[in-house]
Amino acid sequence: MRKFYEMGREERLAFLKDSAGLSDEEATAFGSALAFDDANRMVENAVGIMSIPLGIATNFVINGVERLIPMAIEEPSVIAAASKAAKIARINGGFTAEAGKSLMTGQVQVVSIKNVALARRRVLAKRKELLAIANAKSRSVKAVGMQARVVRDSSKNKMGQMLVVELIIDTRDAMGANAVNTMCEAIAPRVAEIAEGDVVLKILSNYATRRVTKCRAVFDREELGGKEVVERILHAYALAYSDVYRAVTHNKGVMNGVDAVALATGQDFRAIEAGAHAYAARDGTYRSLTRWWRGKGGDLAGEIEMPLAVGTVGGVANVHPTARTALKVLGVKSAQELAMAMAAAGLAQNLSAIRALASEGIQKGHMRLHARNIAAMAGAKGGEIDAVAKKIADEGAVNVDAAKKALSGVRQASAR
Ligand code: MEV
Repeated sequence: MRKFYEMGREERLAFLKDSAGLSDEEATAFGSALAFDDANRMVENAVGIMSIPLGIATNFVINGVERLIPMAIEEPSVIAAASKAAKIARINGGFTAEAGKSLMTGQVQVVSIKNVALARRRVLAKRKELLAIANAKSRSVKAVGMQARVVRDSSKNKMGQMLVVELIIDTRDAMGANAVNTMCEAIAPRVAEIAEGDVVLKILSNYATRRVTKCRAVFDREELGGKEVVERILHAYALAYSDVYRAVTHNKGVMNGVDAVALATGQDFRAIEAGAHAYAARDGTYRSLTRWWRGKGGDLAGEIEMPLAVGTVGGVANVHPTARTALKVLGVKSAQELAMAMAAAGLAQNLSAIRALASEGIQKGHMRLHARNIAAMAGAKGGEIDAVAKKIADEGAVNVDAAKKALSGVRQASAR
């Protein structure tokens, strides 16, 4: 059978229908934009739809299960890079991942309290009652814990001490923002009464430290390019661990993978981004979200660890036909499985980026793919695109003028 990247679109869709059991309708959901009426219901002042490419990363094996990973992203190289890294990882069994329960934190801020320490004790003593109020709001999602912290305002405003009452909520297969916010709002009046203060904020925290996903893989030394490349990758990681200027870019590469899966499957990628970067700075210094070390036999071992608040039920994931189909292709049965696939995509993406950076550099491959956009901009159509792209990439002149010249050469040759 032909490789996925060698197939045409129809063949790729037929493959997905077969392997993921997509119906004709679902397969077309991958090609059709969101209906304007749906968009108009989702946001205000809607005028149109912004579409970006959706592709499938191949070769992923996660906890022994083959996964096709849908990725929505406008940047060339990302999907190919993830697939390539996954192919190397599968030599050693693929990715091993784990994700805990879907525990989110919801915050209720109480201010203008006379005795904050006393208020804290009083609120904690009413834990059972407050959890019951919260749990009366939902049957599917459960508040399982509560804590209260005194926070001192360290801003220039000097607003004094405040109490932050936090609900710990198991949102199961939902991302859970709505349920958490509803529960926080539900307990707020009673919290204000007990604490004898004023409630200001009632909102979930996107710093989902109780919802951390880990994923590991071992990458074959020879496939990476040999001992020296592994050594150079470890140098690259050392810089990302120790230097914030590099760490941010290193993590941008990680998020190329994570966000692309998040977008394809209808997740709130801003929430994931915000949580990820705070987590990268959890020891007080912003560092790499991945860790790399020399494994057995000189292979390269790596691990990613990050909070991933994602859902397979509720939210856009259920409303948007493309997101629904993407989830079906991915074949995940729970929020945890989705988070593990996202973490694997992030780790794979990071490996490919630092491998390229530590060896030939990224521009060669990147420009080769970008050359196809340039060829199309120069007017190349159909099969001309690849021919023109190859010519300008080989010549190292990836610009529209060179593409126009190459195009007329290609047309003259085919007219002969
Ligand atoms: C580009 O989108 C991502 C990279 O800059 C990531 C990295 O530098 O590790 C290549």
